Parts: sequence; C-alpha cells; structure tokens
Amino acid sequence: MGVRVLVIGSGAREHALLLAMAQDPSVTALGCAPGNAGTRALAERLGLGDVADPTEVAELARGWRADLVVIGPEVPLVAGAADAVRAIGIACFGPSAAAARIEGSKVFAKDVMSVAGVRTAPAEMVDDPARLDAVLDRFGPPYVVKDDRLAAGKGVVVSTDREVARTHAMTLLDAGHPALLESYLDGPEVSLFCLVDGRTVRPLLPAQDFKRVGDDDTGPNTGGMGAYAPLPWAGPDNGATLGNDIVNSIVEPVVTELDERGTPFRGLLYAGLALTAQGPAVVEFNCRFGDPETQAVLALLRSPLARLLYATANGQLAAEPPLEWAPGAAVVVVVAADGYPGTPRLGDVIIGSEAEGVLHAGTRMRDDGAVLSSGGRVLSVVGTGVDLAAARNDAYRRLAGIRLIGSHHRSDIALRAVKGLVTVPVTAG
Ligand code: GLY
Repeated sequence: MGVRVLVIGSGAREHALLLAMAQDPSVTALGCAPGNAGTRALAERLGLGDVADPTEVAELARGWRADLVVIGPEVPLVAGAADAVRAIGIACFGPSAAAARIEGSKVFAKDVMSVAGVRTAPAEMVDDPARLDAVLDRFGPPYVVKDDRLAAGKGVVVSTDREVARTHAMTLLDAGHPALLESYLDGPEVSLFCLVDGRTVRPLLPAQDFKRVGDDDTGPNTGGMGAYAPLPWAGPDNGATLGNDIVNSIVEPVVTELDERGTPFRGLLYAGLALTAQGPAVVEFNCRFGDPETQAVLALLRSPLARLLYATANGQLAAEPPLEWAPGAAVVVVVAADGYPGTPRLGDVIIGSEAEGVLHAGTRMRDDGAVLSSGGRVLSVVGTGVDLAAARNDAYRRLAGIRLIGSHHRSDIALRAVKGLVTVPVTAG
C-alpha cells in the first residue's frame, strides 16, 4: 500500500526523516510543513500558520489527504496535535498530549519513573523560595536545576557554582514556575530512541549528543552541536546489548505504566541516560526524535522508515521484522550561526548547503534560489564511514565545503570516543 506522509517541523531532524522516507518504496508522496530550504527538494512545501495549533495541523493533514502524519517537535505534541490528527481518522506518529507529558512535565516524568521502578536521580520540586537554599544544600554540587516545563533546551542548568544554580531556580520561581532540583548523575550520556506503538518497544541504535556550544563541553547549553552513533565504548555490539538492557529495565516499565494509566505512548520515546557506576539512570525522557542524534541514527538505518512509523502509529510494530542497520558509524556536526546560542545573526547567504550529507535546519530560500540562514542551528553535516574515525573525517571533510559568514561549529565531535577516552564508571559492588 502506498502512503502519503506529512512531516511537521522545520529542523535538520525533519530533513533527516524525509531523506530516509524518500528511500522507502511504500511512500507515494511526501509533504512538509513548514519545512526549510533543504526539505523542498524532497517534499511538497506546505504552509502552516502555527505549528503548535493542533487544529491547524489536523486541517492541513486532511486537506493534503495524508495517510500518516509524523510530528517532529515536542511543542505540537504537548499541545495535542497527535490527538487532533487521530480524531479525524488519520494515522499519526507521535504521542497524545497526555503521554507527551513525559517530556512536557519533569515532575510527571519523575512520578511515572517512581511508580515504574526505574532508576533516575533523586529529585525534589521546589515552589517556595524559602525552601530553595535547604534543598540546594541537601543535593550539593554539581547542582542540577530544571524547569518543570518545556524550555527548548534552555531549562536545565548543571553547575558547580551554587550561585548560578540558585539564580536559575529563582528566575523560575519568580516567574511562578516550579523548579526541579535533583542530584547529579555521573557518567557518560547516552540517547536511546525507541519506537513505541503503545506496548511494543523497538530500540534504534544508541547515540551520544553534544549539548554545550564549545569544544571540551565548554560554554552554555544549546539545542545540540553534534552527535554520533553507534557507541563503540558502550559494550558488546557497539552498545546494542546495552540498548536492549535499557529497554528491559527502563523503557518497557515506563511504557507499561503509561499504558496502565490509560495514556499509551505511540511514537518515539527518547530516553536520555547517564551510565553511572550503579548502572544506566534516566536523565530525562523526550516524546520525539532527538536532534541532532536522529541525523546520525537514520544515516545508518536500512529498514524502510515510513513503513516502521506507520506500523508504530497503527499499533502494529510487533509484526515488523527486526531493524536492519548499515555497518559502520555516522557523525553529525552542527553548523551554527554567529551569536548562537544567544541571538543568532540571520539572513546571510550559505554556500555549499546543497551538497550530499548536508541537512538543513535554520535555512530559507530566497526568490532567486539563494539559500539564507534563518535560525541559530543552520545545518547538520553528516559523515559516515566504516568506523567512527572514518565517519568523523567524512563529516569534517564535508563541512569544509560550507561557507557562512560568522558561523561556528565544534571541532571535537566524537573525538574522545575515537581516542578511546569515554569510559563507563565501574559498577559498584
Ligand atoms: N539532543 C537533545 C534533544 O533533542 O533534546
């Protein structure tokens, strides 16, 4: 059966989803709203006034005669876009608003994990400034302070500087929002993406992302400056065995708990984990594909993606054959605009963005066909190779062909892994 797939979003993640689905023979048409300059080559460009308005998303899907809607970002999911699409009888890859609370409220996520018996950092919600100092001191440094709500990657502060952490918490409290304080989880971070159709869970390759803007993890947090997959340091099969263990001990209990609450999760459940001396522990859950890890993971996927997402949306994942992966590795390096993660410089001409392996995020096309920067994270450059070192070389070789005035990127994506410097703390006991 042929499917018309509508993708909602405008990042490099959505560009990667479209690129993978364009290779799936079951796809008869691809649409993207609002998209970017790069998605236009793969998908019909569709207008969408407000990506966060569930009614608009559903009306677009109906008008375009979509068979499947794939919602990329968290904001429309938390707002209920998947519910609105399903309500008009169209299959949707993405959780209901109720299930998307796993990302939309950190306090809710902690409660689900607690009931499901899943390892995560001890935490306390603070909504009274008078309690803040005592709770900060109870957890101690490094201090971890999180905004309970969605905050586009800017809600979390991890700092050894008590004053920095306190200021972040006070900013939240002054705005009337609770702050979640928790103990720091020490160990390398892993992103594990799982297709979840309500009950069945299929993990993708584990990946690692780089959240800080500068080399050696310096500077402020960003939406993500690079990623790689799989993880050669994470045990047998480049981390695949670890991924299966995480599914058994963490993802399936959470999926079961959401199902038992009457809010089954259908879509992509992203477990952000730290591999601590006590074993994997959850840092956060997200209700959608991560960016930029998706660009690395999908570069290696050989199974037909649209078919998988359609089966997930329809609760049929258990009937799908095992996922197939290309051998080797993929590395993604993000090209960011001058000023990012502060106010980015916009509107500059980008040279080289049409090259193979270059995925678009903050780009738009001028009437004369020139590609201009239009966001903070502008491009994701994807390299592949027989191993991580080869993939890294490939990514940086491709990146050398890009020109954007004032742009910056990290030069150390996957470098510590290539050098064998990423180690998992030894399990205690
Ligand atoms: N890679 C981090 C995120 O997608 O939230």
